[in-house]
Amino acid sequence: MGDYIVVGKRPLDGKLKVYGAKNAVLPILAGCVLSSGGVLLDNCPRLSDVSYTLGILERLGCRTAFDGEKIFVNPAGIDSWTVDTGGGDMRSSVNFLGALAGRFGAAALPLPGGCKLGRRPIDIHIRALKAMGVEVEIDGGTVLAYGHPRGASVQLDFPSVGATENVILAAVTAPGMTVLSNAAREPEIGDLCRFLTAMGAKIHGVGSDMLRIEGVSRYMCAVMTAGGRLEIENAVRPHLREVAAVLTRCGGDISWGRDSVSLRAPKILGGCGTVRTGVYPGFPTDCQSQVMAVMACSREPGVMIENIFESRFKIVPELRRMGADICCLGREARVRGGDLRGERLQARDLRGGAALVVAALGAKGESRVSGTEYIARGYRDLAGELASVGADIRVSRD
Ligand code: UD1
Repeated sequence: MGDYIVVGKRPLDGKLKVYGAKNAVLPILAGCVLSSGGVLLDNCPRLSDVSYTLGILERLGCRTAFDGEKIFVNPAGIDSWTVDTGGGDMRSSVNFLGALAGRFGAAALPLPGGCKLGRRPIDIHIRALKAMGVEVEIDGGTVLAYGHPRGASVQLDFPSVGATENVILAAVTAPGMTVLSNAAREPEIGDLCRFLTAMGAKIHGVGSDMLRIEGVSRYMCAVMTAGGRLEIENAVRPHLREVAAVLTRCGGDISWGRDSVSLRAPKILGGCGTVRTGVYPGFPTDCQSQVMAVMACSREPGVMIENIFESRFKIVPELRRMGADICCLGREARVRGGDLRGERLQARDLRGGAALVVAALGAKGESRVSGTEYIARGYRDLAGELASVGADIRVSRD
């Protein structure tokens, strides 16, 4: 894949576009198995996780094509309910559980992987599908589902994003009404519901934590550490409310346009204060590492509390080597940063990898970020995009 070579302290200046989010596209692709006709999706990011998912669809018997930002899926030839990830290890393959159970009354898939953020069990998914009449068991490393889902009342113990998506995918073709309470409200849930509605599903309460389904779819931290200003197109204000509030606290000057946001970095980064991750509309766990990198570049102390995943502080040893003083206890990290220096850095997960680039942009001298295959899972050509707005970043295969 090649390492990223980043020279810090070069202010950014320019415009970038937000493309379709990975976490929205993947469950929508799983939802394609429920379609009776061809599906055309626009504004899809070219990411390795998207290619893996298209591979899964192909091996199920679908035909797929990726042209520019458009994906076409023709599920007419689908003839298998066994998910073959082709060796890829991806959390979102679990979405095929609900979708294939809905289509065939059967599903088999390898126990899902994904970024190693601590234990990532699927007990909430399994209890929810069982409540819908689907038998689910784990046999060795395989999850097996038997039986067509039926409309039911389903109460999630925790608003898990993946479990909410699985229930929705199982429910749209299930006879009867499914009432899902304590559903996740992350923006990608709304995208999945809108996609399925366009295919003819009837879903009420989209955006709330109670869904009734009748059976029948980042760059902001980089400019804070590098300095300069950026305009980001296709930004959705309510989705970014918490992140914008934190970046404003540490001195970012944010102004909103109709579909865009502009951010000017302060001369000297202030403190982020205490940031707590939470379920939507709380502060997103997927932005936690990047904001910790911002904290590490500020002289003011900051506290990060990770409430969603148990093991999401993997960048801490890397930030320490760059010169930040970070003390971790359980889910809490106290960060006292300042002048970071360039270092050899190892990405260990997707968002953490992007965060190391954020830290490197704010550091004095050159950094080398290895493990960029993690970053490619969720960011399309991060180095190229940042270079286009003035960052000193290149890919090295030596
Ligand atoms: C999705 C996103 C991920 C994001 C997360 C939270 C995708 C591909 N991934 O992950 O980027 O960080 O939402 O916004 O869309 N849990 C259980 N049992 C379960 C399910 C979850 O205990 O059956 C726990 C998890 O271990 C975790 C928490 O619940 O601690 C949140 O997980 P969940 O909301 O399900 O996240 P994912 O769908 O895995």
